[in-house]
Amino acid sequence: MTNLTGKRIVLGLSGGVACYKSAELVRGLVGLGARVNVVMTESATRFITPVTLQALSGHPVYTDMWDARVDNNMAHIDLTRDADLIIVAPASANFMARLAHGLADDLLSTLCLARNIPLLIAPAMNREMWEAHATQRNIQLIESDGVTLLGPDSGEQACGEVGLGRMREPQALLTDIIQYFEKRSTHKRLLGKRVLITAGPTYEPIDPVRGITNRSSGKTGYAIARAAFEAGATVQMVSGPTNLVSPIGVSCINVTTAQEMYDAVVPIASQYDIFIAVAAVADWRVAKNFNEKIKKNKGQPPTLTFVANPDILATVAALPQAPWCVGFAAETHLLSQHANQKRQSKNIPLLVANLAQDVMHSDHTQVTLFDEAGEYALPAGLKSDVANQIIQAIADRMIQPHSN
Ligand code: CTP
Repeated sequence: MTNLTGKRIVLGLSGGVACYKSAELVRGLVGLGARVNVVMTESATRFITPVTLQALSGHPVYTDMWDARVDNNMAHIDLTRDADLIIVAPASANFMARLAHGLADDLLSTLCLARNIPLLIAPAMNREMWEAHATQRNIQLIESDGVTLLGPDSGEQACGEVGLGRMREPQALLTDIIQYFEKRSTHKRLLGKRVLITAGPTYEPIDPVRGITNRSSGKTGYAIARAAFEAGATVQMVSGPTNLVSPIGVSCINVTTAQEMYDAVVPIASQYDIFIAVAAVADWRVAKNFNEKIKKNKGQPPTLTFVANPDILATVAALPQAPWCVGFAAETHLLSQHANQKRQSKNIPLLVANLAQDVMHSDHTQVTLFDEAGEYALPAGLKSDVANQIIQAIADRMIQPHSN
């Protein structure tokens, strides 16, 4: 694709000197055939006038939640309803802080909070603001919410300093946006497929206040769910307890114990084309159900006995109408040996394995794929990038077996 014909873009401007570059960006987007609706924060209007952006976009510019031009007075919903993408350029440090914490105190932040379409942001700020711990914390939150950052670039800044924080040039942003749409259209390799994913840890109660769980954060499972959705699939996730928000477009059933996960997954699994078992499911649960808190008293520590939990993945793989099954394994040693054994014993076509100590709670990961043809290490990267590669590897194997 060399143009953006038919694409509907909401361009948000928050306050910053870089607003002057956004005029050029609007021109570029319109020149490539996109429909651009501009939304400005109050402080953005101090740097460039809505009149300029209205003239360049050919559409009214919105600055106010209470704009009577919108029929139902719900500009925050209507503006993105039929849009493909929101891009905020420039995204100031203040805007990013509000985005990270879900504030909705003006039209642009409310639009971003109420969106069900992708959001790209092009940060623009002074080097010290960019490097501030608070900004870096906010970036982590924003990225984990699935927002894509474009830049910032490094160079001379309006304040006279030199460093990271400059907004990317309009031409570079145009290329980013074109590439973004290209990537989405060529990566719809699971279009029409139904994908069921388990994610997160499970929690097995000992008594009403204590329990056994594991160190899975759920990040990989949620990243896989997002990547599958972006590849065009209809995605149902069944998640154990995590601190994560399910990705946009992904429906999620929340469960606590392994048995609840089993009960949620097994009856529906045959309706899916692909089952990806990312959850770190507890292998055992406490045999006796203590309805009251076990008291310390002065006696002996309690002795707990365990019973095995059902193996969800092995059960699904053995169903008469089994979906195409993918397992995950985090091992501490002998990765290849354990992964191969696990793939064979669960009778699944693909197993994704990694070394637990390398990736727990990190945003980065490195995995190796094990299938009938052998093993194949994927390059290390952000969990979101690796999730995309895993989804591509699944599509490869379902469509052309062993093409990696
Ligand atoms: N799994 C599952 N149900 C279970 C246990 C595991 O669905 N009760 C799935 C996991 O989601 C993962 C794969 O099986 O995709 C491997 O999980 P893992 O815990 O590593 O394997 P186990 O078979 O439990 O082997 P072990 O704990 O001995 O390493």
